[in-house]
Amino acid sequence: MAIIGFVGLGVMGGNIATRLLDAGHAVQGYNRTTAKAESLAGLGLTLAATPRAAALGAGVVFSMVSDGDALAEVCAGQDGILAGLGQGSIYVDLSTVGPVASEAARIAAEEHGARFLAAPVSGSVSTIREGRLSFMVGGDEEALAEIRPLLLDIGSEIRHVGSVAQAAAMKLAVNLSVAIQVIAFSEGVLLAERYGVDPGRAVDVLLHSVVASPMLAYRGRFLLDPPEVPWFTVELARKDVRIMQDMAERVDLPLWSAAAAAPILAAAQALGYGQDELASVGHALRAMSAGGHSGGGCPSPPGGTACTSG
Ligand SMILES: NC(=O)c1ccc[n+]([C@@H]2O[C@H](COP(=O)([O-])OP(=O)(O)OC[C@H]3O[C@@H](n4cnc5c(N)ncnc54)[C@H](OP(=O)(O)O)[C@@H]3O)[C@@H](O)[C@H]2O)c1
Repeated sequence: MAIIGFVGLGVMGGNIATRLLDAGHAVQGYNRTTAKAESLAGLGLTLAATPRAAALGAGVVFSMVSDGDALAEVCAGQDGILAGLGQGSIYVDLSTVGPVASEAARIAAEEHGARFLAAPVSGSVSTIREGRLSFMVGGDEEALAEIRPLLLDIGSEIRHVGSVAQAAAMKLAVNLSVAIQVIAFSEGVLLAERYGVDPGRAVDVLLHSVVASPMLAYRGRFLLDPPEVPWFTVELARKDVRIMQDMAERVDLPLWSAAAAAPILAAAQALGYGQDELASVGHALRAMSAGGHSGGGCPSPPGGTACTSG
């Protein structure tokens, strides 16, 4: 079986690499912080000392890093991915970096004789573990046909969107809803709570209502019970909003919902929630609301119905 190279073994990359190992693939992987990838070595991953070493001899190379700067960093230089790519190999970037950074990676990879696909993903830890990750792919359709079985070892939904830049743009179009849904969900809980509804009950009701998207279905409960390791941080969500606002500016699109989300995410980060799970934006919203109300006391709702709790 052909060797797979993998660069960026964080929350997403680590879980995706695990699926590849579970499917029996030989994976050589690099992570900037080696200690974070050591548990994968226990699952059979060969640890590579540099991105170049991860790419060397691999028929397919994946990267999954934080942002455009990280992507440029793992690609460039004598130890970078590009230096290790073989002629005709397929380099697939899974990161959410937007059309500008993705297109730059495509050009650089093609200059090195490789074929490049942008394949950003939708889903998080549970989605990957359940084999339900979805890919939006941009670039050469023949290259996609070649790696389709590999992608199906990771996830279940593969859609070819068009060019590399279009797939990268599509991912931000998807993620516009992520921040906004989490903010609206959190404010819904706060609003119900101010009227005496127990927050646990409010979360439960919201998650059994029509607003419970697949994303909120796994993330909603994190408002009250966050995972030990954040599934998706406030900082990464903020990065996505920055990219979509830059994209919108270039095409003269107002993008009101991103404009609403941006200052809330910035405030959450300023309050110290940057490295926390995105659901913690609810705690930031609470802290920013009048007096940081914690559910004690209940205002008289319009119409004067008495509070029952709080
Ligand atoms: N988490 C989600 O639910 C989710 C869903 C869909 C898409 N995404 C996207 O997937 C990407 C990865 O997200 P994640 O949640 O896996 O984040 P993460 O756990 O923070 O992982 C980020 C990875 O990038 C590496 N990295 C960052 N800066 C680097 C640099 N300058 N040089 C080399 N490596 C660098 C990190 O290495 P270190 O370990 O050394 O820091 C780590 O391997 C992001 O683009 C994110 O927006 C995330």
